[in-house]
Amino acid sequence: MQGFSPKVGSVAVAQATATATNNRQPKRLKDILALDDFDRAARKHLPRMVYGFISGAVETNAAQRAAAASYLDYAFVSRTFVDVSAREQSITLFGRSYALPFGIPPIGGAAIAAYRGDLVLAEAAARLNQPMIMSASSLIKLEDVHERNPAAWFQAYLPGDNPRIEAMVARVARAGFETLVITADTPVPGNRENNVRNGYSMPIRITPRVALDCALHPRWLLGTIGRTFTSVGSPHFENMEADRGPPMFSRDFARNFSARDKLSWTHLELIRRQWKGTLVVKGLLSVDDVRRAREIGTDGVILSNHGGRQLDHAVAPLRVLPRVKAEVPGLTIMIDGSIRRGTDVLKALALGAAAVFVGRPFIYAAAIAGVPGVLHASKLLSDEIDRDMALLGVTKLAALSQDYLIAAR
Ligand SMILES: Cc1cc2nc3c(=O)[nH]c(=O)nc-3n(C[C@H](O)[C@H](O)[C@H](O)COP(=O)(O)O)c2cc1C
Repeated sequence: MQGFSPKVGSVAVAQATATATNNRQPKRLKDILALDDFDRAARKHLPRMVYGFISGAVETNAAQRAAAASYLDYAFVSRTFVDVSAREQSITLFGRSYALPFGIPPIGGAAIAAYRGDLVLAEAAARLNQPMIMSASSLIKLEDVHERNPAAWFQAYLPGDNPRIEAMVARVARAGFETLVITADTPVPGNRENNVRNGYSMPIRITPRVALDCALHPRWLLGTIGRTFTSVGSPHFENMEADRGPPMFSRDFARNFSARDKLSWTHLELIRRQWKGTLVVKGLLSVDDVRRAREIGTDGVILSNHGGRQLDHAVAPLRVLPRVKAEVPGLTIMIDGSIRRGTDVLKALALGAAAVFVGRPFIYAAAIAGVPGVLHASKLLSDEIDRDMALLGVTKLAALSQDYLIAAR
């Protein structure tokens, strides 16, 4: 895809990144040496309410902390005297080869943080041939994102209502998407107190405090919101249902959550019958749920606690991964949540994940520096994976197994 060779991992990422940016890296990226650095830069760049919406979790943030801490439960047992000169990072998912083992998960409201954010993420992922999932809560038509990246997957938030499901699934199929992701962990919105504290609401209400917050971040205000209004008009939720949704500034936004709490396994069966492409369920944590998803004919699952944004104290996805892998063989298992380092990626893969997804750093990167920012984020992670593979003594990701890990405590 687009001149990217999956053979040589980080070298190819470096080349694709250099071509995309004409070898000139935006100044803003100079000090960004690791994914966590994007967080600090985004905190400065974005209004407090937008940064808070992205960075925040729910209630005590225990689920988010647990996901991050779970990577400390494992230590590596590296191998030496291995010729690791021919390292590569490609993976195969659902019969398709990707150049990198980490992808971009669905991130709602991306176009509020970054100008045309969903297109930025889609384009960067296409250039690097990495998995990318477009969010149902996006502000750009799914048809336009598919055009930019025909390999992108689409994530739906579906209500438990057959006609609405059928219409939405038909629209996604008509657009040409090959992979449909159903998010399962959102029957109701999470309790995001930080949004209330920071003045972030849906629909967005322009209070004097919000206006001041925006005015204090002029580069974001003009470069993202101003530019969006002048080029494409008021952003709408385009992909919640088969028909165009309300504008972000509309009062009737809440109705779009209706009947999500009625979504059940029967609906997943209906979706499976209708959707001919690859079907993935995101947001499972229980072995029984994963088994049931497989019985229904789901092709893959993403173990996830939604970045700690739904049920607080939800278990860390990494903690359930080994058991899910052992008890539900033959299913593609992916994972997300607080994956920030090459070592995190390698631990998840060693425990049986077929791929991982990295959320917040990519949307921060898109906000700060557009496509070059997202490419830079991928390059940093890919470089880490490459170095870590050499130090661990593996040349192919498929060679990883639990033999390379030991309990850290
Ligand atoms: C700002 C934001 C918006 C999100 N929107 C969605 C969404 O629309 N659909 C969904 O399934 N998950 C959504 N998620 C969850 C992510 O897909 C993913 O599970 C999570 O971000 C992974 O954790 P990480 O950000 O720590 O890497 C969102 C996460 C964030 C941070």
